Amino acid sequence: DKGNHRHFMQKEIYEQPVVVAQTLRAYLRRMENEVAMPDMDFDLGAVKRITIVACGTSFYAGMVAKYWFEKFARVPVDIDVASEFRYRDPVLEKGGLALFISQSGETADTLAALRHARAADQIIAVVVNVPTSSMAREADLLLPTHAGPEIGVASTKAFTCQLAVLAALAANLARAKGLLTPEEEAEIVWHLSEGPAAMNEALGHDGDIEAMAHLIAPARDVLYLGRGPDYPMALEGALKLKEISYIHAEGYAAGEMKHGPIALIDEAVPVIVIAPSGPLFEKTVSNMQEVQARGGKVVLISDAEGIALAGEGCMATIEMPKVHPLIAPLVYAVPVQLLAYHVAVAKGTDVDQPRNLAKSVTVE
Ligand code: F6R
Repeated sequence: DKGNHRHFMQKEIYEQPVVVAQTLRAYLRRMENEVAMPDMDFDLGAVKRITIVACGTSFYAGMVAKYWFEKFARVPVDIDVASEFRYRDPVLEKGGLALFISQSGETADTLAALRHARAADQIIAVVVNVPTSSMAREADLLLPTHAGPEIGVASTKAFTCQLAVLAALAANLARAKGLLTPEEEAEIVWHLSEGPAAMNEALGHDGDIEAMAHLIAPARDVLYLGRGPDYPMALEGALKLKEISYIHAEGYAAGEMKHGPIALIDEAVPVIVIAPSGPLFEKTVSNMQEVQARGGKVVLISDAEGIALAGEGCMATIEMPKVHPLIAPLVYAVPVQLLAYHVAVAKGTDVDQPRNLAKSVTVE
């Protein structure tokens, strides 16, 4: 039932503050100011290397998690798409943690990669939305997302719930490694708990995003730029736009622009820049200015502070609440999804059932 929404995708975008809060409840003990995980029969603190494997949007959640695992827990992370991982003969030391991320828990390549990792004596952790799925059944550590059934083919709420679980896992890992003081842990709990309200605020800008969709709808190509954890968000933005609006889009690490893609820039290629104010902001803005100097039309997604500093000269800006960097990917997912959604609606495509795509990819 779509309720009063026009599409399942729209409904699922709007459900995010509720389902992310629901998911966080399973991984945070608010009263004790602690992060929490289901019981494990292995020592999380002894994990020396993590291998993350997933496909599509779930893979981008994994890319964000790599930043968190390395930053907070100082554990080296390898990450690959399942269809590459399986065939590249990866080096997996016994006792490593292999982490699989999947909404459906049935994606054929990811499931085959899981079995490959099992055969290589890895501890198998899975982040899945379907608790009865094959991946859930084959895991040593099952970390469910509580997004509820996702009907729209383009993944939205499953993605942000994956991010919530992965942030909590990063904090648990950091604690297990002795790298978090109780004060730091309390701070992480506090920031994560702020996520749903900030996502709600982001949804409040839906009207602005809808109003600017006509700027993107006529484009043949669109670029998305971001740095750090916003780089996977750029990839996710481009994927969402491609799959439901059929506009060719690419996400790039902002600093890579000058190594090739900047040759594409002209006034016909809108560039979406994802840049919350913070430590990486200035660097990303300087890449944005390189684009503008070549006649590129920019849509800047940032907070009031970022827009005040760099919004001038942009074709449009989308304002997000000012949030802690830890929850920025959860919050910035919202405008990226809404932009793709409204562009697709403007183009009249079948948003919930885009051509050539299936909800669950059970072929290799
Ligand atoms: C994109 C999308 C796909 C899936 C991918 C993996 O919107 O939905 O890219 O993310 O097919 O599916 P799961 O997460 O079920 O393994």
